[in-house]
Amino acid sequence: MTTEARTTPHQPRSPSLREVMISALDSAIRAPSTHNTQPWIFGFEDDPPAITLHADDTRALAVADPSGRELFISCGTVLHHLRVALAARGRTCRVERLPDPTDPNFIARVTVGAERAPTADERALEEAIHNRSTDNGQFRDDVVQESFERALEQAVRAEGASLAVLTEESARAHIADLVAIADRVQGGDSQFREELAQWLRSGLSDKRDGMLVDGAVGVVLPWIVRTFDRGDGEAARDRELIVDGTPALALISTPTDTPMDWIRAGESLSALLLRVVVERWSVSYFAQVVEVESTRAAIQAMADGKFVQLVLRLGRGQHGRKSLRRPVRDMLRG
Ligand SMILES: Cc1cc2nc3c(=O)[nH]c(=O)nc-3n(C[C@H](O)[C@H](O)[C@H](O)COP(=O)(O)O)c2cc1C
Repeated sequence: MTTEARTTPHQPRSPSLREVMISALDSAIRAPSTHNTQPWIFGFEDDPPAITLHADDTRALAVADPSGRELFISCGTVLHHLRVALAARGRTCRVERLPDPTDPNFIARVTVGAERAPTADERALEEAIHNRSTDNGQFRDDVVQESFERALEQAVRAEGASLAVLTEESARAHIADLVAIADRVQGGDSQFREELAQWLRSGLSDKRDGMLVDGAVGVVLPWIVRTFDRGDGEAARDRELIVDGTPALALISTPTDTPMDWIRAGESLSALLLRVVVERWSVSYFAQVVEVESTRAAIQAMADGKFVQLVLRLGRGQHGRKSLRRPVRDMLRG
């Protein structure tokens, strides 16, 4: 009697749920955050399986963002990115926002549910996560098509905020004025400049957060930012960018101005950004208009009683350079 060698065909092992969660987090942390502070901490729960998201207030911007509004918006962007990343990996999820009234930094619990095949749209949004970057350059003067505007409005509304796309010259000129005023206020504030300088990185830095500044300039720029009043130069550059290099501005607003609104504004921002990337458009930000008290009051007046959370530029550009991220393991609860 001959014995046949029995071979088991090699079967790739399917990833464990924990591996799926870590892979989803690895995508989610590509989300944008103010000054690329990446102000989030994640944890895992087992029964039922969930990812927890906390705001990391050691990374908050005490001068530019004393209320923590942008900290929460940034956490909202990573929350929406995480929902997209889980969906693209074939996982449903349920989100509880601000689940613990005794812990204001507990942003969300994301409970991971049943498996199901991802849709083509979910895969496209996941791809957009990896193709997105903030583009601060000039945009071409392509017109925002009505169907595109409607799709963006719908994406933002589905996340609990509202969107106004402004293309008229008078509205853009008004916002250009507000941006210039806000630039001067912040440029003249040494504490603001000091805080900004702490988040500027040269290529020589081994930190994987903050904003990269080119080559040798990167070494001296933090010093320049600390030492000089940059308000006028920044104001002139931003004004020119709006007048000559911005076909549309966009305002994301919320019905009230609470931490829950800030999280929803962040989720809305993420939903808008990923749709924008799918259409090969780009976005950049004028957060200073909402950060500075006097210009915030003026921009609120344009929002029909709503609270403007984000002022964005919208257009077709080059796509900026990819910014750095810390590894997920450095963002896990100790
Ligand atoms: C709430 C919020 C406000 C921001 N404000 C500004 C801004 O005023 N000016 C700017 O150049 N970038 C702004 N950014 C973009 C961040 O600097 C950028 O997301 C970060 O450096 C990471 O780069 P990336 O978006 O290319 O991944 C903002 C981002 C967020 C989420």
